Amino acid sequence: MLIRIISDIHSNLQALEAVLADPPGKDADKTFCLGDIVGYGADPSGCIERVQAECDIVISGNHDAGVAKRVSLERFNWEGATAIRWTMSVLSKDELSWLSLLPYYTEHENYFLCHSYPADPESWTYLLRRNHALESISVRQGLISLIGHTHLPGCWMEDGNFTEAAKGDFSKVRIVNTGSVGQPRDRDPRAAYVLMDTEARTWEHRRVEYSIDDAAARIKDAALPDVLWQRLYKGH
Ligand SMILES: [Fe+2]
Repeated sequence: MLIRIISDIHSNLQALEAVLADPPGKDADKTFCLGDIVGYGADPSGCIERVQAECDIVISGNHDAGVAKRVSLERFNWEGATAIRWTMSVLSKDELSWLSLLPYYTEHENYFLCHSYPADPESWTYLLRRNHALESISVRQGLISLIGHTHLPGCWMEDGNFTEAAKGDFSKVRIVNTGSVGQPRDRDPRAAYVLMDTEARTWEHRRVEYSIDDAAARIKDAALPDVLWQRLYKGH
């Protein structure tokens, strides 16, 4: 079975459409979304509609929870909170209600899905350190955790080490970070997502070109903070 995993779309519809059209992922049997559908970018409704149509499982990210008033805006920086307030003002009641009902985590077969930190999903911890990886591996024993949140693609192995390798055998992988569809922060501005082949037991971190100019123009038109379109070009 081919599983496509996307995360951290951040209202970037141009990047999301490019990822959904990417040939190998297009034939996936299942698509999982690990949250932060909205926030930062200028097309929250369009992204929600596409995620609802394409994804078999959808998890809430901290930005989705902020828009749905489940997480205080004090937990976000100024530009993040500004984009969340703007997003609240443009979404319909139904869209806000749908966001508010998304789970923070779930299990599916041998996968544990959450947005940020498998050991404690609602803490919104950034999983960047080996001790946090080992803690998560121990809490979710026997499962492969699928996460986003840091916008840094890579895999944590069973020994707690991190690899940025673009593909490999996932026998020893315990946590997969998909990277970000709509706002990469690893200095590669292309949209990121992951494919898992459960028969071949391989993972692949894929990168997809999209029109950053179009996504940036949408953010400028919405009068959101300049940093939110500027960073799309830098990829961090
Ligand atoms: Fe995010």
